[in-house]
Amino acid sequence: MKTIIEPFKIKSVEPIRFTTREERIEILKRAGYNPFLIHADDVLIDLLTDSGTSAMSSKQWAGIMDGDESYAGSKSFYRFEEAVRKITGMKFIIPTHQGRAAEKILFSVVGGKGKYFPNNTHFDTTRANVEFTGAEAVDLLNEVGKHPEIRADFKGNMDIEQLENFIKITGKGNIPLCMITVTNNSGGGQPVSMQNIRETKSVCNKYGIPLFLDACRFAENAYFIKKREAGYSNRSVLEIAQEMFSYADGVTMSAKKDALVNIGGFLAVNDESLAMQCRNLLIVTEGFSTYGGLAGRDLEAVAQGLEEIVDEHYLQYRIRSIEYLGEKLVAAGVPIIEPPGGHAIYLDAKRFVPQIPQEQFPGQSIVGALYIEGGIRSVEIGSVMFGKYDKAGKLIPPPMELVRLAVPRRVYTQSHIDYVLEIIIEVFKKRESLKGYKIIYEAPMLRHFTARFEEVV
Ligand code: F0G
Repeated sequence: MKTIIEPFKIKSVEPIRFTTREERIEILKRAGYNPFLIHADDVLIDLLTDSGTSAMSSKQWAGIMDGDESYAGSKSFYRFEEAVRKITGMKFIIPTHQGRAAEKILFSVVGGKGKYFPNNTHFDTTRANVEFTGAEAVDLLNEVGKHPEIRADFKGNMDIEQLENFIKITGKGNIPLCMITVTNNSGGGQPVSMQNIRETKSVCNKYGIPLFLDACRFAENAYFIKKREAGYSNRSVLEIAQEMFSYADGVTMSAKKDALVNIGGFLAVNDESLAMQCRNLLIVTEGFSTYGGLAGRDLEAVAQGLEEIVDEHYLQYRIRSIEYLGEKLVAAGVPIIEPPGGHAIYLDAKRFVPQIPQEQFPGQSIVGALYIEGGIRSVEIGSVMFGKYDKAGKLIPPPMELVRLAVPRRVYTQSHIDYVLEIIIEVFKKRESLKGYKIIYEAPMLRHFTARFEEVV
């Protein structure tokens, strides 16, 4: 098999700034050992997130010039609407400035105290938007998805049996909708199979509950279906995506992922009365229904991005770059969530630095070491992000301690990825010398963004 190449030429470049190890030690200390507090200029390879960090194509930039900035009825809105409808088939399409704005509007309308929302795994903003209304967010991930070391094709699947039991116990009247997140970001970027979407839909239908997709990474999910699920190898990614959405009654999407833009999102539904209520709220919070918090040029860029994302040469390169990094890490003995997901590599910090107890944030320690060793920015997804305290002030840790290295779309080349690999292996060799951290400042909510740490000596 031939080398899978980046399916693009580079027309415009952005230099990255090199720092010395000594400088990085100082920078990290000044940032309180928190990657969110490092200036991006001091980062060499930025793997903090794949969200809003994509490189746009020349056609998307052309769309930026071509955007129609009319307040109402802009031609860019109609192009955007057509592009979203082609993929999702949804009747009512509501633009929002990003994914969480779509979530905020949806759950403000359908949420509230006494309501429950099952999902394979809520992303943290989705959970926050559900909980903000007083409702409860319930994760019903398949058992295999909870074990980083077990290899399986669809570790993002919903546990169908648990879902049905949950509906029976909770009562269908208390469940305004059920959601599936594709791919499952919080569980390692793992895909959900078509069969699982179909089965979830059939359980939902039985109880009259609408099914929604959190579709940020729908094209990556569709590509995994094409590669891994029987009966799909000859179908196009677009057709597979269309089938995925055919089981859904609604969609929330952060266009900052699989629409290859720096800002944007949407909410799309089939129910007219729900659409009316959401549009009314949109006008109060985001903007008029034909722009929803975005400029006309942003809508053009999303429309173009949605055409480009289903290109199979792009997806082959995308999924292969992550898999390539994962394969080499596994060969070097580095513990990761296996198999690699669609947008990121997740290091398993518990196995990487077993000497650091969960109260001393093993993931955060690896994040610090990757920065010092090679100027790579990653993010902890473990006790810093999700840890809670009991009444005695003792940490209640989440089940997994992970470090996410999320790869921006079309931004880095294979040699960047090779460099990342070298640095991770370098840190892995020194793993016994890594130290834990303690928190010296934390905010009451979403503390990972602003917390400050010190090394435990
Ligand atoms: N749903 C999922 C699955 C996500 O991954 C995100 C964002 C959102 C919803 C919210 O979208 O950021 O446009 O408001 N994930 C980013 C990340 C932030 O780094 O994984 P948003």
